[in-house]
Amino acid sequence: MADEAGALVAMRHANMPVVTVAVDSMTFMEPIRIGMLVMCRGEVTYVGRTSMEVRVEVISEHPFVSQSTVTNTAFWVYVALDDKGNPAPVPQLIYESPEEIARAEAAKERQAFRKQQSAKEAQSREKSS
Ligand SMILES: CC(C)(COP(=O)(O)OP(=O)(O)OC[C@H]1O[C@@H](n2cnc3c(N)ncnc32)[C@H](O)[C@@H]1OP(=O)(O)O)[C@@H](O)C(=O)NCCC(=O)NCCS
Repeated sequence: MADEAGALVAMRHANMPVVTVAVDSMTFMEPIRIGMLVMCRGEVTYVGRTSMEVRVEVISEHPFVSQSTVTNTAFWVYVALDDKGNPAPVPQLIYESPEEIARAEAAKERQAFRKQQSAKEAQSREKSS
């Protein structure tokens, strides 16, 4: 559900199909009990050239008592694809407030870390093959 919600947010931003490339860890801070409604809310937090980071919040809500709880959050990364299936440039985000600028800086660091991890994994796969 969270991946689908994040992908929809990314597709709306890019106006193109997207593919999921990475997700950071997801921890349940609260349980989702049987019978509860589950909703996802996503927002684009960072845009690279072809990639977008989307923060997805999972919210559980009681069906008839107005009470909702955020149970998880995770950052997902999507890449926009052109009609040949190649990564395609996406519209940039405009960061205005100090909060938005700080959030984009934090996202940039996460993205650099993901790419570093993925390069390390590729290296160790090469070594073991
Ligand atoms: C996503 C994919 C098209 C990217 O192809 P690629 O050859 O790595 O292309 P690039 O190197 O140009 O990278 C494209 C973007 O993805 C980002 N990216 C690549 N690997 C990444 C990773 N592990 N984590 C975060 N971002 C990553 C790059 O930083 C780049 O972003 P930018 O343009 O904003 O700088 C390719 O890796 C792919 O098809 N992966 C499989 C995805 C998939 O099948 N998902 C569904 C799973 S069910």
